[in-house]
Amino acid sequence: MLSQDIIVKFAEKYHNSPRLFFSPGRINLIGEHIDYNDGFVMPGAIDKGIWYAVAPNNSNNINFYSYDTQENYSTSRFEIKKNNGWRNYVLGVLDQMVKRNLPFLGFDCVFGGNLPIGAGLSSSAAVECGLAHALNEIFDLQLSRVDIALLSQKAEHTFPGVMCGIMDQYANMMGKQDNIMLLDCITIEHEYLPFKLEDYGLVLINSKVEHALTGGEYNQRREQCKEGFEILRTNLENIESWRDVNPEQVEQLKDKFSDVVFKRSLYVTQEIERTQKAANHLKNNELKEFGQLMFQTHEGLSKLYEVSLPELDFLVDKAKEHDGIIGSRVMGGGFGGCTINLIRKQDWNIITEEITTAYKQQFNIDAEVYEVAIGDGTYETPAG
Ligand code: GLA
Repeated sequence: MLSQDIIVKFAEKYHNSPRLFFSPGRINLIGEHIDYNDGFVMPGAIDKGIWYAVAPNNSNNINFYSYDTQENYSTSRFEIKKNNGWRNYVLGVLDQMVKRNLPFLGFDCVFGGNLPIGAGLSSSAAVECGLAHALNEIFDLQLSRVDIALLSQKAEHTFPGVMCGIMDQYANMMGKQDNIMLLDCITIEHEYLPFKLEDYGLVLINSKVEHALTGGEYNQRREQCKEGFEILRTNLENIESWRDVNPEQVEQLKDKFSDVVFKRSLYVTQEIERTQKAANHLKNNELKEFGQLMFQTHEGLSKLYEVSLPELDFLVDKAKEHDGIIGSRVMGGGFGGCTINLIRKQDWNIITEEITTAYKQQFNIDAEVYEVAIGDGTYETPAG
């Protein structure tokens, strides 16, 4: 078991016994790219994630070992500076702690997991929140779960430089087994919706095209939305957030926008409406109707928000051909990663086999298939 390997590695490197924490990845049922646009999102933590083995070392030194990349990184706690790669996700968290005068001391750390990187499952939030939570427990920093989510989001903005919304870090900290969260991204409050599907399940198909949000496309979308919102605010009355605008109003003002900003704005308003409808369908157990909205979201992400790729469009088109898949779409930031599929349990093996075979023929890539279980947010687990 991987968590045991991490503890063994810790003992080997630091000759000490650590505390162990599990920090999950996340899925999102619907509500994509609207966490930073005043929308609602429906994420859940999953049972795949990153383990952190951490112990104080009675010094001012901080030592990291990334189990997955087999790399070390050490620094003094008084010299937290930007670096590159995975280091920025952990150092960003430490930098935020320094900025808030949080009293952490030197520590040793080994982390690693079974969350595919670049698959749209938010390994970045798992790395950030896992460390923040571990240090909060070990040094009694008195942060609440929501504080940790917000601190980790800020860490991602400042060190890796991705201007992400709050969804991933929130899902990581607030996830609850067998529940989806309906998160209001204006108030940063959520409602848990029980998610135990009898005949259906969630399956991720990893296109194996790796997405890297640091590429700038994500931040660019955010800028385009800002521009769109300013145009709406200038041309309409009483507009305080994207929630005050509907798609018809965006259509009516079409000639005020550049083509690109029009498409982004139309998508945002449609997706906000869709997510609210979807939440009602889920509450009423209307899964087919829910799934239809997932397909519509994909269409919007592909044609209007332009964060899909031919590989992901192909996987969703193939999904549509099967009665057993009632909803499918690209999930997370886009530009690669996974599609999320709502799929009839009894025949998911046959269906995914067919889709991955067709995908291999078309792109010569071996897609991976994972069944999703909705788990708890970051937690400590016995290290023995
Ligand atoms: C990434 C970001 C999130 C969110 C999604 C798209 O995962 O970290 O904040 O914007 O993309 O919904």
